[in-house]
Amino acid sequence: SEPTVVAIDGPAGSGKSSVSRAVARVLGFGYLDTGAAYRALAWLVNGSGIDREDVDAVEGILPTFDYTIGLDPDVVVVTVNGEDVTDAIRQPEISASVSAVARVPHVREHLNTLFRSIVADTYVPGVVIEGRDITTVVVPDAPVRILLTADEAVRAARRSLELSDTAVRVTAEATGDQIRARDAADSQVVDFMNAAEGVVTIDSTSLNFDETVEAVINVIRAAT
Ligand code: C5P
Repeated sequence: SEPTVVAIDGPAGSGKSSVSRAVARVLGFGYLDTGAAYRALAWLVNGSGIDREDVDAVEGILPTFDYTIGLDPDVVVVTVNGEDVTDAIRQPEISASVSAVARVPHVREHLNTLFRSIVADTYVPGVVIEGRDITTVVVPDAPVRILLTADEAVRAARRSLELSDTAVRVTAEATGDQIRARDAADSQVVDFMNAAEGVVTIDSTSLNFDETVEAVINVIRAAT
């Protein structure tokens, strides 16, 4: 039988990655982080010395973009052309350059085709796929579609806490500026601040992590 597809969208720092991973873990589902694919492509573009504003050059690199991402929510490993880029794609220079790559229509079509085939090839009971346009463009017919939001200040604080966990250290203020800039750029391409028709909004501003995970699971259980 077909896996249960759970589509989750939201802005930067909404917690959607960690929440989606936890939900997948609890339900025994696969987990697909589409932002990681855009980051992996930005990493390839940055490393090839091409100008990321040069749309033709970015499109030209797509045939050499051999990307893999594991669906296991416990071990998310991303590779590009055989190289492990799991940590490299979280660096600030990637966050700062990914939007330019993501706004190229051919890039989006290319990656969306990839995402749909990964979802179709999933043999686990279900898959949680998260990003910016999953509920509206990638799998608009998914049985479960959720928009995960939180107030901007809360998102900035959470993201800087998350980054302080990794090798990257930034202040909450700088993180707030980066999140605003990235959301502003990304919003020109897809609307992930307003729920499309039939999409359930979960506002996690006053929820802690476990409560947010529970809220998502409740929506999934009610819909399936
Ligand atoms: O989710 P994350 O913040 O890692 O996404 C990184 C970037 O990838 C976003 O800022 C956006 O430019 C792009 N993205 C996108 N569509 C998606 C997922 C991510 O354009 N579905």
